[in-house]
Amino acid sequence: MNSRFFTQVLMVFLAAGLIATSALAGEVEVLHWWTSGGEAKSVAVLKELLEKEGHTWKDFAVAGGGGDAAMTVLKSRVVAGNPPTAAQVKGPQIQLWGDEGVLAKLDEVARAEKWDELLPKVVADVMKYEDSYVAVPVNVHRINWMWANPEVFRKAGAELPTTWEQFEVAAKKIKKAGFIPVAWGGQPWQEATVFEMIVAAVGGPDFYRRTLVDADAKALKSPTMVKVFEMLKMIKPYTDKGAPGRDWNLATAMVIKGEAAMQFMGDWAKGEFTAAGKKPGADYVAMPAPGTSDQFLFNVDSFIMFEQKDPEAQKAQKAMARLILQPEFQKVFNVNKGSIPVRLGMPRAPFDDPALRSMNAFVGTAVSGGLVPSMAHEMAVFPAIRGAIVDVVTNFYNSDMSAKKAADRLASEVEAAK
Ligand code: BGC
Repeated sequence: MNSRFFTQVLMVFLAAGLIATSALAGEVEVLHWWTSGGEAKSVAVLKELLEKEGHTWKDFAVAGGGGDAAMTVLKSRVVAGNPPTAAQVKGPQIQLWGDEGVLAKLDEVARAEKWDELLPKVVADVMKYEDSYVAVPVNVHRINWMWANPEVFRKAGAELPTTWEQFEVAAKKIKKAGFIPVAWGGQPWQEATVFEMIVAAVGGPDFYRRTLVDADAKALKSPTMVKVFEMLKMIKPYTDKGAPGRDWNLATAMVIKGEAAMQFMGDWAKGEFTAAGKKPGADYVAMPAPGTSDQFLFNVDSFIMFEQKDPEAQKAQKAMARLILQPEFQKVFNVNKGSIPVRLGMPRAPFDDPALRSMNAFVGTAVSGGLVPSMAHEMAVFPAIRGAIVDVVTNFYNSDMSAKKAADRLASEVEAAK
């Protein structure tokens, strides 16, 4: 074999090798809003798993907790005819994207992987558009949590509250002792997050459903809702001047550092404690938000997938869909993220105490009737109604509007958004 021929043969092999690799490999461009320490660590797991299978991950992170900014960017990309491969989209919005006719059908993966058997039916139904899977669920977050620094409570001689009345007693002591009682993130979605916890606490699950799921005008302006608004405003003197505009993870950091005593936030906050090496029970306490121990405000993250023309991109997309529900990803992602697996039958051993309590509460409240979808996190109503509620809540919290006026306005704005 002369050397020229050898080189030619080698090149043929190389080319064949390259073709073989690229036949396996495709790119996924993934739009999400997981940019905090704990969130970034969690999503990195998916990237790694995809890369192990030879695919490429193009990160399309749009910062902004709660995802409002990400949704705006997503719409403009789709309108421009250039959707990403996958995007973090939740709840009833999945149906709206289905109506646009731009989503990829994932039934082939779903059948092969037995998604109908692996997922709770209530979750699976939300992921389907006209009976076809168009989205993959990732996790289950519980919204109604209180994250507390026990050291601050101890120094202030205050008790951990289980009711909003006890909260007020504790908050007074904490403030007097020179600490910030509540780490508050002054952004509309965060204010709406606390608001819905108070709706649950003051009104119970039936009232929650009538107002934040059914959007019933009479209930929205009822005396119970007036009480909810009063309770929300009661918290304000126990927050600090830096609250307006503060990101949720910076608020969590205040609790971690012992500057503030507590934060009311979904369990992605636990991801920040975990990323900082803090242990539940010792360094921080996780309790249901006051008055909500028998309720579970749920929030399921999911990815919708957009139709792809390129066969390699299709393969990568299918791989992503498959990997999300694999036990490996469900375990590592949810341990880091603070959520619990959405896949049924996962081993409990890797999870910490708050996660185990969340798992028990998820099952228990499904039976007792205390399991309700989060309005603030897009699980309960269409975006127009959610937008109207969030606007009224934030306008009320940041002005001297009376609680009565806020409840009336809530009813009329929600009617107008229907
Ligand atoms: C999402 C979480 C996320 C949180 C803060 C929620 O709406 O469901 O996954 O961690 O927003 O950005």
